Amino acid sequence: MSILETYEALHRGSRALAARASTVFPSGVTHDARAFQPFPIYVERAAGPRKWDVDGNEYVDFIGGHGALLLGHNRREVMDAVKSALERGTHFGASHELEIEWGQQVIDMVPCAERVRFTSSGTEATMMALRLARAYTGRERVVKLEEHFHGWHDLVVGRLGPDDARPHSVGVPNGFYDALTIVPSGDVVALEQALAGRDVAAVILEPTGAHWGTHVLQASYLHELRRLTKETGTLMIMDEVITGFRMAPGGASQRYGVTPDLSSFAKIVAGGMPGGCVAGREEIINYLEMRENDADWNSEQRVSHQGTFNANPVSAAAGIAALKIIAEQDDCARADAASAAIVRGVNDLFARESVPGSAWAVSSMWHMNLGYDAPRPKDVEWDVEAQPEGIAPALMRSFRQALYNHGVDLMGNGGMVSSSHGEREVAHTILAVGASVADLRAEGLLG
Ligand SMILES: Cc1ncc(COP(=O)(O)O)c(C=O)c1O
Repeated sequence: MSILETYEALHRGSRALAARASTVFPSGVTHDARAFQPFPIYVERAAGPRKWDVDGNEYVDFIGGHGALLLGHNRREVMDAVKSALERGTHFGASHELEIEWGQQVIDMVPCAERVRFTSSGTEATMMALRLARAYTGRERVVKLEEHFHGWHDLVVGRLGPDDARPHSVGVPNGFYDALTIVPSGDVVALEQALAGRDVAAVILEPTGAHWGTHVLQASYLHELRRLTKETGTLMIMDEVITGFRMAPGGASQRYGVTPDLSSFAKIVAGGMPGGCVAGREEIINYLEMRENDADWNSEQRVSHQGTFNANPVSAAAGIAALKIIAEQDDCARADAASAAIVRGVNDLFARESVPGSAWAVSSMWHMNLGYDAPRPKDVEWDVEAQPEGIAPALMRSFRQALYNHGVDLMGNGGMVSSSHGEREVAHTILAVGASVADLRAEGLLG
């Protein structure tokens, strides 16, 4: 049977649900990245590093709740905290003690965090960070790096498709693009030029390079960016929605020794429940402050912020439990080690089988090149001059179908590893990649 025929035979229940979904949702999905051909898998339950679909197929999970689950699915301490919070109520529409503990935990862990404000998602967090930057500096222009993703709001809109020359979405007023400068990632000279006019409110970036390290960024660039932003009165916003509490208990900022003015968080911060926050320098975050008897400040300077589910008590309980584990135990390091073991295993396999491709990782996020003669890093991190290219678009669909057939759910060109991924998952993944490559070769898709 072909890769596609096997996929269809193994996933009859998912096919039936996808048919139903196609009459309810555009493209049958609720997130662009969940669309898949001929239809996506429908997941029934998950535990630790694994999940099971409605047809009973088991997968090593590399989506990890879109990166939210550094501790794996259903970590006991987090589940207990959620259960006990649920029993007390899902939403008070009022201040509550857990939100203080949650915010304090963020302050204790994150280098730039003097003050915090919770949001409901990463998109909301980057939106708030940019608004604060504009309010604080009195400047409008924002600089972002090519390909870097910061959510789907109008201020930093992503691309419609992978081949688009520029980021845009139909429905965003053209005026938004006028205040946005996009510079090539990693190019210090271009950044220097973009900031020279001293009219930029903030530079926002993914500290790993675009798409959690799919495009690699040298740590030295972060230091240069910090220097140039300071020199020009520009704020540095580190978007740690993915890297926060993953690359280290204090995120990429701690790992690279670069302290931004503001950081945006979501995913891990809320322990696998919905939630996000902006953390940073007190004098900037305090632009959210309401001042008694200062009408001018309140109407002309402060940034307003609402949000029904901000600091939701169930998310707070999950977030506190997860962050405490991350602060006190070695989960970040264990996830990094599993990710490194996958990269080494895949590179050994590709070398042994003369597969045109290679693997690399940034912390617990691993990636693959496939379908072209890619250089291999010496060890785990990408240390080659040329940028990696990822999985050739023509191979992506069949490769992922094959990996599903062999029990692996890939995210993009690799995966988010959790501290629950152990030797079994590493070994299974390397075998599955080998079997999927063999399937591609059998169909003449890969040399
Ligand atoms: C770096 C980065 N920033 C922001 C976001 C948006 O977060 P959310 O999906 O919670 O809105 C994402 C989502 O994946 C992200 O990867």
